[in-house]
Amino acid sequence: MGDARIGLIGLGTMGAALASNIAEKGFGIAVFNRTTQVTRDFAAAAGELAPKITPTETLEELVAAIAPPRAIILMVPAGDPVDQQIAALRPLLDDDDLIVDCGNANFHDTDRRAAEGAPFLGIGVSGGEEGARHGPSIMGGGAPEHWARVEDIMLAIAARHEGTPCAALMGPGGSGHFVKMVHNGIEYADMQMIAEIYGILRDGAGMEPDAIGEVFAGWDEGALKSYLIEITGKVARARDVETGQPLLSVIVDAAGQKGTGRWTAIESQHLLTPIPAIEAAVVARNVSSRLRERAVGEALFGPAPRAFEIDRDLLEQALIAGKVLCYAQGFVMIAATCEANGWDIDLPTVARIWREGCIIRSAMLDDMAAALAEHPGENLMRTPHFADILKRTHGALRQVVAQAALNGHPAPALSSGLAYFDAMRTARGTANMIQAQRDFFGLHGFVHVDGRTGVHGPWTR
Ligand code: 6PG
Repeated sequence: MGDARIGLIGLGTMGAALASNIAEKGFGIAVFNRTTQVTRDFAAAAGELAPKITPTETLEELVAAIAPPRAIILMVPAGDPVDQQIAALRPLLDDDDLIVDCGNANFHDTDRRAAEGAPFLGIGVSGGEEGARHGPSIMGGGAPEHWARVEDIMLAIAARHEGTPCAALMGPGGSGHFVKMVHNGIEYADMQMIAEIYGILRDGAGMEPDAIGEVFAGWDEGALKSYLIEITGKVARARDVETGQPLLSVIVDAAGQKGTGRWTAIESQHLLTPIPAIEAAVVARNVSSRLRERAVGEALFGPAPRAFEIDRDLLEQALIAGKVLCYAQGFVMIAATCEANGWDIDLPTVARIWREGCIIRSAMLDDMAAALAEHPGENLMRTPHFADILKRTHGALRQVVAQAALNGHPAPALSSGLAYFDAMRTARGTANMIQAQRDFFGLHGFVHVDGRTGVHGPWTR
């Protein structure tokens, strides 16, 4: 019987980085990859971590190398590969052996796998390769007794915020992967809003990439301080190694996506929870891929005027407002799933474990954690600290969205954020018209302002 503390299947970029991180923190780890050469190469490159790593070439060997009761991490592509891997592995395991899916699984799949009864955890891991290697943000899902079996490893490998590990159990079943999914939805919106501001700097102010990079680097010193703003400054100033051109000028503007942002948008519709800025960001990626159609459109309608001068501080303030609104939408969505699924995900804990390690880490998350803790159940945008920020910045967001619209800059995420803000501060909106229309054509009835329900308009007589 082997004595490795844990096993890991799937030595792709993320799997290899996670395995090295675990070994570096002193835990013995047995590893397996379907292509044996990948395992051999990984072991050969392990250097000083080698004594902690047991490379194995069959699943039987892997299982034998781990001390029971075993825990085995899966780092294989989400979807069918996970089911296939579980089906191949379970017959080799004891009843109390634990499978831990650390991939980007759809939380419904994780719920289903957890419900099968055998010990199972679904853990969302964020931070890309660098995070996996040196400290990701870790969102656990499953039974507390299963989490307890790997908690020391998860806390050891996670990123740290002022000494506190960015890892926690979110709740049962698919809740960890749900939180990771919403993280990615916010990631989409945050990135899209940044890209919209980049577009205004590039095509509105006519700035070169280097200068744009300086602007973002400057913003990274202030309220917007975050990983995404930091890397935006860096990518704007990067050069293409072959041509020496600014890197951004050689990249086709069609955004890829693996689907987690789309899942967030779909799930929000099921939950009836509005996340318009996130949805707009998903739509923007879909629109971006319509390259040919966009070129035909430009030829047909002519290019938008685009050039206009706008104050940089206004852009920064608009981005601050947009950021608060898209994070607020994400947190509300997590609260909505708790109500729908009977989960009890602690929102301040979510904000805390997002403070370091993950892609959406940002200085603001510290204040978000505090605001959500002080005002349980409240939409982040209405907590005093963030309400003050929005009172100060929504005017700038309004001006930026208005100028963008007048000059033909698509700014779907910023505009959707603003529309959400305005709708959420309008006590009497216009859905009375929708209700009247529904009653007119379908006799659906409406609620009268005096409290009566099932009331109809005069057209029923
Ligand atoms: C993370 C990221 C990561 C995600 C990539 C690509 O938290 O580390 O969210 O999990 O897979 O960012 O996502 P898209 O291909 O959908 O942009």
